[in-house]
Amino acid sequence: MGVEIRVEGLRKSFGRQVIWEDVSLTIPAGEISALLGPSGTGKSVFLKNLVGLLRPDRGHIYVGGGDVPRLRESELYALRRKFGVLFQDGALFGSMNLYDNIAFPLREHTKKGESEIRRIVLEKMEMVGLTGAERKLPGEISGGMKKRAGLARALVLDPEIILADEPDSGLDPVRTAYLNQLFVDLNTRLGATFLIVTHDIGTARVLPDNLGLLFRRGLVMFGPREMVLSSTHPAVNQFFNARRQGPIGMAEEKDLAEAAAESVPPSRPAPIPPQLMPSDGGLRPSMRRPGAWLREHRVTPPPGSFVDDQGRDWLTDWDALAAQRRR
Ligand SMILES: Nc1ncnc2c1ncn2[C@@H]1O[C@H](COP(=O)(O)OP(=O)(O)OP(=O)(O)O)[C@@H](O)[C@H]1O
Ligand SMILES: [Mg+2]
Repeated sequence: MGVEIRVEGLRKSFGRQVIWEDVSLTIPAGEISALLGPSGTGKSVFLKNLVGLLRPDRGHIYVGGGDVPRLRESELYALRRKFGVLFQDGALFGSMNLYDNIAFPLREHTKKGESEIRRIVLEKMEMVGLTGAERKLPGEISGGMKKRAGLARALVLDPEIILADEPDSGLDPVRTAYLNQLFVDLNTRLGATFLIVTHDIGTARVLPDNLGLLFRRGLVMFGPREMVLSSTHPAVNQFFNARRQGPIGMAEEKDLAEAAAESVPPSRPAPIPPQLMPSDGGLRPSMRRPGAWLREHRVTPPPGSFVDDQGRDWLTDWDALAAQRRR
């Protein structure tokens, strides 16, 4: 089953460049969360902090009892077994064929025999649509294939937490649709916790249970998909509706004078599309959450952001949200 990730007061800088000042959020166990934000806002850095590849300047990351930045090297090694990670560049070993790349974590972390390994590797390769490409080297395949090979490798240890950094970049729309369905089905079957970084708002609008937006050295908002998509917060509204008007500019942020000069009120958020459902016709794990559970896990958002077209306030009306999810 999936594990919750609780992040408190995270600050990260590189030299004088501050990436974020104070990020706090709880990524709910067994749900799919997606993290978005303009390029350079530290999404990849955030994932690397979660698995202890980078250390924050301050703050806590609680995963299954331990506080990641404070773990010793041996404890980190054990912690990383809980995670399946797909890095942004796929991070395949260039000299190994796809089969050996995907088998690598099994050979490294388990005592499984080669026939068992073969069964698992071929199963995961089929899952991501790479059957027949076992002998190919990373240098001989397309970017999308590398992504899918990286994903197959992230899945072989049946992780409790799956982190995927732009799994859909470089994929065509049909493959993206298959990949998103695969995430929903895996989440339903394994109950693993997913955190997916993506630039694709089509994906962001239908795939996750929770959405987050990084911007201006902080987490602007993190919460249930329905809440974020119906928000009229300027940056959130602009980003999830892919508009030019708003505080986000070409060079990440417009200067404040420029943004104020536009003074375009946030437009009505587009209607919330139905969520992707498991292909076996069942329910997503998040759909069983009662209103009380949602209330308990809510974040502290800017006031007044969450009243949608129908005057529903997602901040207080959690039972309506839970009911919508079960519908
Ligand atoms: N190891 C590092 N040392 C110094 N600076 C770094 C390091 N890793 C990342 N950065 C800087 O931190 C910032 C955030 O980088 P990051 O890769 O997390 O962005 P991102 O949000 O993932 O962007 P993209 O959407 O383009 O992938 C960038 O300015 C980057 O140059
Ligand atoms: Mg990145």
